[in-house]
Amino acid sequence: MLSPKMNDALNEQINREMYSAFIYMSMSNRCNELGLKGFTNWFMVQYHEEMFHSMRIYEYVCRQGGKVTLKAIAQPPADFASPLDMMTKTLEHERYITQSINNLMDLAISEKDHATQIFLQWYVTEQVEEEENDNEIIAQLKLIQDSPHGLMMIDRDLAGRMATVPTDFSKGVEAAAKASAG
Ligand code: FEO
Repeated sequence: MLSPKMNDALNEQINREMYSAFIYMSMSNRCNELGLKGFTNWFMVQYHEEMFHSMRIYEYVCRQGGKVTLKAIAQPPADFASPLDMMTKTLEHERYITQSINNLMDLAISEKDHATQIFLQWYVTEQVEEEENDNEIIAQLKLIQDSPHGLMMIDRDLAGRMATVPTDFSKGVEAAAKASAG
């Protein structure tokens, strides 16, 4: 059972995660325009990750007998100067998402909502990984400075990123996650 306040807060987070997906789709498109196929791939994989994050909350609200209310997704930015600009903005955005997860956890703790605390723990861990990935790529981009050769090497590396989350939620999100984990 979810309190009305927790139900509303989770609906806000569904929206934040979907907006995250939109930002990364927009960045993927920009990278495609720049001819950076590896970055294009990396951001599209990130898009799938965010849709999965969103859909996990969606399913959790349903399973708890709550009410999912989908809200309008804001238009994401589209003009980015460079891969470093995009990765820096990605890290800034992820720090904002981390804070929003922390706020949700604080609410779950204050309400003694144990089930939601356990559910949110996965997101707490996930955010550490997300920020770590972004920091790593930013460090590499700073290292190569303006070297086109260095940029192409990073791009080739990012082309290998594969989606590890399910993308078909028609049979349920957790069931799809278990199936994709083997
Ligand atoms: Fe769903 Fe990138 O946080």
